[in-house]
Amino acid sequence: MLFSKSLLPVGASMLMLFSQAYTKQVESETYDPTDYPIFQLSADSDQAFFLEIPLSLAEAEGSNTGELLRIATQIVPGSEESVYPAFYPFAEKINALAESINATVDPVGARENYFHASTYYRSSVYYLVANQSDPRLVSVWQQAITAFNKAIALLHPAPGESFTAHQTNSSIGAYDIPGYFYKGSASNTTQLPTLIVMTGYDGSQQDEFHLACAEVLRRGINCVTLEGPGQPTPIRFQKIGFIPDYWTALTPVVDLITNRTDVDTSKIVLLGDSFGGTLAPIAASREPRLSGVIMLDGLVNLQQQIGLSLGKLEDLFKSGNAKEFNAEMEDVLINNQSQPIGDRYIFQQGLYTFNTTSPFEWFTQLGDIKVTPEVVEGVGDRPVFIARGQDDNLTGVQAVYARDMFINNRTNGVNLTTYQEFLTDLGAGEHTSIGAETQIFTAFSAWLSKIWGDYLFTDEQSY
Ligand SMILES: *[C@@H]1O[C@H](CO)[C@@H](O)[C@H](O)[C@H]1NC(C)=O
Ligand SMILES: *[C@@H]1O[C@H](CO)[C@@H](O)[C@H](O)[C@H]1NC(C)=O
Ligand SMILES: *[C@@H]1O[C@H](CO)[C@@H](O)[C@H](O)[C@H]1NC(C)=O
Ligand SMILES: *[C@@H]1O[C@H](CO)[C@@H](O)[C@H](O)[C@H]1NC(C)=O
Ligand SMILES: *[C@@H]1O[C@H](CO)[C@@H](O)[C@H](O)[C@H]1NC(C)=O
Ligand SMILES: *[C@@H]1O[C@H](CO)[C@@H](O)[C@H](O)[C@H]1NC(C)=O
Ligand SMILES: *[C@@H]1O[C@H](CO)[C@@H](O)[C@H](O)[C@H]1NC(C)=O
Ligand SMILES: *[C@@H]1O[C@H](CO)[C@@H](O)[C@H](O)[C@H]1NC(C)=O
Ligand SMILES: *[C@@H]1O[C@H](CO)[C@@H](O)[C@H](O)[C@H]1NC(C)=O
Ligand SMILES: *[C@@H]1O[C@H](CO)[C@@H](O)[C@H](O)[C@H]1NC(C)=O
Repeated sequence: MLFSKSLLPVGASMLMLFSQAYTKQVESETYDPTDYPIFQLSADSDQAFFLEIPLSLAEAEGSNTGELLRIATQIVPGSEESVYPAFYPFAEKINALAESINATVDPVGARENYFHASTYYRSSVYYLVANQSDPRLVSVWQQAITAFNKAIALLHPAPGESFTAHQTNSSIGAYDIPGYFYKGSASNTTQLPTLIVMTGYDGSQQDEFHLACAEVLRRGINCVTLEGPGQPTPIRFQKIGFIPDYWTALTPVVDLITNRTDVDTSKIVLLGDSFGGTLAPIAASREPRLSGVIMLDGLVNLQQQIGLSLGKLEDLFKSGNAKEFNAEMEDVLINNQSQPIGDRYIFQQGLYTFNTTSPFEWFTQLGDIKVTPEVVEGVGDRPVFIARGQDDNLTGVQAVYARDMFINNRTNGVNLTTYQEFLTDLGAGEHTSIGAETQIFTAFSAWLSKIWGDYLFTDEQSY
């Protein structure tokens, strides 16, 4: 769901990033929490944002605040080396605690501890992408999935179901799309609306259970998550990077969903989170079985957005000199320990998720994944909700671009497009409004109700 925060340090203009004037925030400024849109758990703004994710999951069984705040004490601002040792042993202990519980006696305790352990396992490997052959990227992820699957088996009124959808791509061959289906009610015959959640550049579908699915399951509708090429599980276990034709990852999932007896096939909406805000409309443009799309947040072109911060390096990229671009990117930035973590991480994660070691190849391929007028035309007459966090300087004005395109690049765009900015003063101004899920899902639910013909949500205190 997320990517680097520190590309845009407070007070630094984006174009200053690679100039002499740019200084590392951690060293040059005294950390003052009152300077930030949201309270930071680290003096390093990238690590602070990284920690906001597991912290936010606490609202729906994904962590406990005390545990997370304790872990945060072990993380040295600016040091990625301190992250794995802070999270991994903690995850091991919580997982052991979960294992020690007899789930017949205390199913809630078992479920919650497994969920927490899974979150801490996932967080522990966040920065390890710097070395693509680090075996922990895969082995610890497997531990995270194992713990998560034990947790969802204990959900009620119905256990979460994992599934694998299949697709074939002419250049990458057959591949799998892992997903989860969470039922909005115990019944197998009541046909309910379904929200499909597509994550982004680095977030996992397991995060999305706590961030997005929890909100809609409480309202009594089904939730589905999936990970396509480039996303955490496919890149780790199948080595397939992001592709432009992202609908090919969605369609087999919709095939599975529409076959079920507990889905109202006229009410399926796709939500794209973070870079999913780009992937979701692309996928929806060729998937007519969706009745709407939510972009959280609006993001038309990530390459363009990152390009703003590359300064002279963007000119080098445009000149087409791959060799020199790669050398500069590696020396100045990606492998330069003097750069803030976030500025290295966003590129390291990019290389990893596009299955390449060439920055030039990564940035070229990233440019092929964007919302175009053709995509908008493909979405056509389906309603679109575009969100923006007021202080989301990661995606800048991309949500405004998205709004203008969905209004102007299709027939009846004004009536079909809803745009809402979520406010910093209300704690919802961060990228994807993370940590303010109640506010965003209140807005989404009002919109869903309207597009589904005044649909009435229920109140299922399912967990
Ligand atoms: C984000 O950008 C807004 C202007 O759009 C600015 O007022 C705000 O200070 C920026 N926030 C951060 C954290 O840089
Ligand atoms: C778990 O608790 C149930 C109910 O008390 C009991 O029947 C079962 O044997 C216990 N399982 C283990 C592994 O102790
Ligand atoms: C990357 O990880 C592999 C496997 O652990 C290790 O052999 C290699 O030395 C690491 N590379 C770097 C640059 O640290
Ligand atoms: C197949 O994958 C390649 C990337 O390897 C991508 O360029 C292409 O668009 C994909 N085609 C389909 C039909 O998915
Ligand atoms: C729904 O189907 C599942 C899987 O086939 C089954 O385990 C469950 O008991 C069914 N639920 C109801 C309420 O019939
Ligand atoms: C991903 O990269 C690895 C290592 O270069 C390669 O073996 C593998 O075939 C690549 N995957 C795809 C789908 O191209
Ligand atoms: C959907 O159901 C039909 C009929 O039972 C079956 O032939 C088809 O394989 C199913 N498709 C999927 C994707 O499960
Ligand atoms: C590494 O980053 C530092 C801090 O921005 C910068 O001063 C230095 O020139 C960079 N190293 C290289 C080789 O560009
Ligand atoms: C699409 O919308 C954008 C933003 O309003 C506008 O600048 C552009 O001309 C439109 N393009 C097409 C092909 O309609
Ligand atoms: C757009 O919505 C308004 C208000 O509901 C309605 O009056 C108008 O006819 C709609 N325009 C189109 C082109 O559907």
